Amino acid sequence: MRFFIDTANLEQIAEAMEMGIIDGVTTNPSLMAKEGISGEANILNHYKTIAGMVDGGDVSAEVISTDFEGMIKEGEQFAALADNIVIKIPMIKEGLKALNYFAMNGIKTNCTLIFSTGQALLAANAGADYVSPFIGRVDDTGWDGMALIQDIADMFKVQDIMTEVLAASIRNPLHIIQSAQLGADVATCPLKSIEALLYHPLTDKGLAKFLADAEKLK
Ligand code: G3P
Repeated sequence: MRFFIDTANLEQIAEAMEMGIIDGVTTNPSLMAKEGISGEANILNHYKTIAGMVDGGDVSAEVISTDFEGMIKEGEQFAALADNIVIKIPMIKEGLKALNYFAMNGIKTNCTLIFSTGQALLAANAGADYVSPFIGRVDDTGWDGMALIQDIADMFKVQDIMTEVLAASIRNPLHIIQSAQLGADVATCPLKSIEALLYHPLTDKGLAKFLADAEKLK
């Protein structure tokens, strides 16, 4: 399973790239707003900067239009910024039309706000390169986000569907581990969830002991 980082924060993207653990970035309007990015020119410039930071890895840029024409206009603007931009489209009827249009025109897409296997199947049939089931938000409603990942991954396998399952709305390290175990192709994670995989008290304790003993070797 590949890792994307789910942020529009340039420092966090740079840090994750330095660690060599990520293959791409996903953003959304909420994450862009969190960074204080506003205005068309600034938004386009920010996406271009991110696209240049990830060695050709996929960078999802989300449209904010909800009509077909608007999505196409925004998506084409994003796609012109860099070869590794993926257009993020919401799971609505107009979105399906846009997914189909971009597939026909050789532009990669990520269908976002997926909350059911049926939605994932529709997005795949419309030509999406990625579907993004939102695990954390499913958990928030009292349902099982991981079961959704499993159902979609199993269905795509049985049907030989090439669309990739991109586990999103990751909130903790267990979401990441279970996504990998259940067959997600990618997990897009906040840096803090990735870092939570890294730390273990016994590693810190063991290292402290090695360093203390190393003093005796001097
Ligand atoms: O990639 C979608 C993700 O950013 C949503 O996460 O935590 O807002 O549910 P969250």
